Amino acid sequence: MCGIVGYVGKAPVVETVLEALRRLEYRGYDSAGIAVLNGRGIEVRKRVGKIEALVESIRRQPIRDGHIAVCHSRWATHGEPTEANAHPHTDCKQTLAVVHNGIVENYAELKSQLLAKGHRFRSQTDTEVIAHLVEEYAKREPLDCAFRHALKELRGSYAVCLLSKHEPHRLFGAKNSSPLIVGVGKREAFFASDVPAILGRTRRVVYLNDHEVVELSASGPRLTTLDGKRLHRKATTVAWDVAAARKEGYPHFMLKEIHEQPATIEQTLFNRLDAGKRRLTFDRRTKQFLDRLSPNEKFIVIACGTAYHAGLVGEYMLEECTRIPVDVDLASEFRYRGAQLGRDTTVIAITQSGETADTLASIQMAKAHGAKTLAICNVMGSSIARAVDAMLYTHAGPEIAVASTKAYTSQITALALLTLYLAKRRACLPPAQWRRLFDGLAKLPEAVQRALETERAVKAVAGEYARARNFYYLGRRYNYPSALEGALKLKEICPVIHAEGYAAGEMKHGPISLIRKGWPVMFVAPHSSVYEKVISNIEEVRARKGACIVIASEGDPAIKRHADSLITIPRTEEFFSPVVAAIPLQLFAYYVADANGCDIDQPPNLAKSVTVE
Ligand code: AGP
Repeated sequence: MCGIVGYVGKAPVVETVLEALRRLEYRGYDSAGIAVLNGRGIEVRKRVGKIEALVESIRRQPIRDGHIAVCHSRWATHGEPTEANAHPHTDCKQTLAVVHNGIVENYAELKSQLLAKGHRFRSQTDTEVIAHLVEEYAKREPLDCAFRHALKELRGSYAVCLLSKHEPHRLFGAKNSSPLIVGVGKREAFFASDVPAILGRTRRVVYLNDHEVVELSASGPRLTTLDGKRLHRKATTVAWDVAAARKEGYPHFMLKEIHEQPATIEQTLFNRLDAGKRRLTFDRRTKQFLDRLSPNEKFIVIACGTAYHAGLVGEYMLEECTRIPVDVDLASEFRYRGAQLGRDTTVIAITQSGETADTLASIQMAKAHGAKTLAICNVMGSSIARAVDAMLYTHAGPEIAVASTKAYTSQITALALLTLYLAKRRACLPPAQWRRLFDGLAKLPEAVQRALETERAVKAVAGEYARARNFYYLGRRYNYPSALEGALKLKEICPVIHAEGYAAGEMKHGPISLIRKGWPVMFVAPHSSVYEKVISNIEEVRARKGACIVIASEGDPAIKRHADSLITIPRTEEFFSPVVAAIPLQLFAYYVADANGCDIDQPPNLAKSVTVE
C-alpha cells in the first residue's frame, strides 16, 4: 500500500515526482504529500484525498522548484487520513523529510523514548518516529550512519526514503518486506514503490533486497548493507513500456486491462507453448524444479483475493489432470494453521504484485519448514519472485486498476501450463484428452477475444440490474471460483452493492432463504460435466422468483428458458471455462459500477498491493 517516489536530477522536480506518483496512485489514495529541497529549505505540502488535490493546491500556490524531492500517496494504517498524518514527515527542525510504506511495529516504544529526549511529534503515525530517530542519531554521526542506525532500531516492515536539508545531492532509501526499486536514468535517478512510476523516464531498474541501504545521486545508486558494507548490483532493463502504464484512450484502466486479455494470455503462453510441435517448456530453472518433483509430491497453493480464486481453479485443474493432491489456502490463514510441510511439499504462491505481505510471509514460513517453493507472479524482481526456488512469470504487463482482471486470467493460464506439463510428464491423461486440452490452451487467446464480443450485451444486462443492491453469484466445480471472483469484482469496484459468491450446491444450505422476487443471481453455467446440476440450481432460484442472469456456452438452445437474462460465451473445454467466463463477469462488474457512478480504478478503502498483514 502507499506509493513512494524520490528523485534526484536536473529535471524540474515537482512536476517529475508528481507525474511518477500519479502512476502509483493505485497503491493508496487517501492523502498525498511532497517535500522539495529548494532555496527555502525543505518545503512540504500535503493534502487529504487523491493526488489531484495535492496537484491542485500546488497549481494554486506553486512550490519553488528544486532538483531533489520525495513524495508519497498514502493508504492509512496508523492514524486517520488527515493532513497531519499524510507523508512526508519531518524531524523537529524540518531538516529531514521521510516517506514510508509499511508498519513500524515498535513505534510506540520508540516514540516514548524520543519524547523523553524532547522530540516534538506532529502526527499519530508510526512513520514520524523514523524522522526523529534519524535526527537523534545525526546529532552524533554523519547522516548515512544515522540512517542505518535508525533502520536497525525498527521492527516491522518498511520502504523508506529520506531527504535531508544538508544533503542537496543525495537521497537515502532502504527496504524491509515492503517494495522499493531504484530507477537509473540519464543523469537522474529515482526511488519508487513500483516500476510503472518510472516508465517513460527510464526502464533501467535496480531491485533492492531487504536490509539494503541506498545512497542515491543523479549518477545512480550506491548500495550498502545495514552495516555499511559496499554491495554491487547492475541495473536490469524491464520489458514493460510506458503505454502499458497509460489509459490509451480507455475511460478506466480496468476496461483497458479487460480488453488486453487476449494479448496478455498470449504473453503468458509465449515461449512456453509450441503449438506446431505440441510441446510445452519452461525456463531451465523452472523445468529442473518441476522435473525433480517427487512422485509423492503434494502442492499447497497460497494466495489472497483474486489470486486465491485463480488458485482454486488450479486445484481443479491439477487434481483432475495430474493426480497431485492440492490444498488451496488463503495466505493469511495458511500462516497460522500449522500445515504439515516437508520435503515432498511444494508451496505455490500466486500473486500479481509479488509483494502481498501475507503471501510473502507464507513463502518464508514454508521455506523455513523445508518445503519447496514456486511462484506464479507478474512482477519481475518483486520480493516473492526473489524468495522462491522457481518462478513462473505471467508476463501480463503492469496491472494498474485496483481490481485485478488480466492478472487473474494469466494466473489461470500459467496454472494450465503447469498442469498440462506435469500431466504429460506423469502420463496421467489419455493422450487424446491431453492433445485436446493442449489445443484448447493454444486457442485460448482467440476464445477470450470472442468472449470480449459479449461487451455490448453485458452492458445492456448490467444496465437492467444496476439498481439492485444485493447479488448472488453461483457456479459449480471449475466455475465455483468464477462465482467467487465475479462477486468480488462487483463488490470491490461498486461499493454500494453487496455481492456474495457461493458454490451453487450450497444454496439450499442457507443462502436461499434470502431469495425473493427479483433478487439477482448470476449463474456461471457454461457447457460442463455439472451442467445439469447447475440447471437444477437455477430452477431452485426461479421457483422463488429470483432473477437469473446466466452465463452459458454458445450453441445451448435449451438454456434460454431457464434464464431471465442470458450472456453467451464461446464453448470451450470445461478446463478453460473459468478464463472465458471471467470476461463477462469483469465487464458486468465494470458496467454496473459505471452506471452507479463509482470510482472504478480506485475504489474506497482498497489499495492495489497489500503490503501490510
Ligand atoms: C483483486 O481485484 C484485488 N485487488 C485483490 O483481491 C488482490 O487480488 C489481492 O490483494 C492479491 O494481490 P496480489 O495478487 O498482488 O498478491
